[in-house]
Amino acid sequence: MIRWIQETYDAKVYTFTADLGQEFADPTRFKEIEEKAYNLGVVKHFTVDLKDVFVKDYIFPTIKANGLYQGVYPLSTAIGRPLIAIEAVKLAKKEGITVLAHGCTGKGNDQIRINVTVKAHAPEMEILQPIIEWNMGRDEELRYAEQQGIPIKNQNKKYSTDENLFGRSAECDVLEDPSMEPPEDSKEWTTAPEKAPDTAEYITINFEEGVPVGLNGEKMNGVDLLRELHEIGCKHGVGRIEHMEDRAIGLKSRETYEVPAALILIKAHKDLEKYVCTKHENSFKNIVDQRWTELVYEGLWVDPLREALEAFINEINKKVTGSVKVKLFKGSAEVVARESPFGLYDLNLATYETKSTFNQRLSYGFIPLFGLQSEMGFLVKQKIKQEEKKK
Ligand code: ARG
Repeated sequence: MIRWIQETYDAKVYTFTADLGQEFADPTRFKEIEEKAYNLGVVKHFTVDLKDVFVKDYIFPTIKANGLYQGVYPLSTAIGRPLIAIEAVKLAKKEGITVLAHGCTGKGNDQIRINVTVKAHAPEMEILQPIIEWNMGRDEELRYAEQQGIPIKNQNKKYSTDENLFGRSAECDVLEDPSMEPPEDSKEWTTAPEKAPDTAEYITINFEEGVPVGLNGEKMNGVDLLRELHEIGCKHGVGRIEHMEDRAIGLKSRETYEVPAALILIKAHKDLEKYVCTKHENSFKNIVDQRWTELVYEGLWVDPLREALEAFINEINKKVTGSVKVKLFKGSAEVVARESPFGLYDLNLATYETKSTFNQRLSYGFIPLFGLQSEMGFLVKQKIKQEEKKK
């Protein structure tokens, strides 16, 4: 893209790599990327460590909102994009850059997420999507790179992937056939569940006001906690997701993810939240969570509705404090116990033992009132059905 922009527009190019914790295995990659950029003659390259902001302002809100798009995808890519866009705009303004280019195709969600965020923060900024402009296939792109003497590290890389602290996604190639199970080579993080340890591992996650703050009773900062959970989850083959996803633009796409830390955290959070909230709060929170998740998935991070929904989400989360015990075993992560000073569970009321203080005779008065309209409605409906039969 860099060479193509230089050639096509005779432009000076600046490059930017956001560190969202994507290089789990090898952080020296950032240096390699920088060198490659300078070899291509860019004016300046920026690598910006955004891990802490990413965790605090994007991952934690997603956990508080139990953000699982269509019930399964924890938005790992979706929440990275607005942050990258905001940081790119900051750098551009500082350097007097007037055009932002990015590598999104014209088919996905990421272009919406980046373009909308950029335009909201800098309406004057022009956006360039070379992938749409040049209209080359993958093989043509490889040929172009070769002609230009640009080394491509892994020519056989089949999948289009994205990674950060919250997850990894892979698409394209054989994954585009939804009738086939994703092959093992599309996974890079997680152990196959069948090869995971034969003994279960238990972990306890500590939450304060909806935010994970510790593991097994030990306080930890967000980045370390995510890394630790990532390791444990990967070992047990947790967080593999295979999904027929509805993209914002209306296309269906086959998506695969590895999201061990995200999945464990959202499951644990949701369990604790449910424990401390009333059934009315729980039911309404589901609606708000889903709305928040769809808004963020569709790239409208900047929409004021997000902050308005978060006002409610944060209010609810004030009491989501306590700990959740999770059992990890061969691909599954199940909550098995929870504790909170704000739990609404009362053993004295709920127990089936004789010592219960719950007055069961109250049900004689409650059930007739509770069922009154439904019973009436049923009888009326029977009548209507009989009339219909006669006709
Ligand atoms: N479908 C996901 C999303 O829209 C992930 C897309 C990530 N891109 C990729 N090339 N794997 O958030």
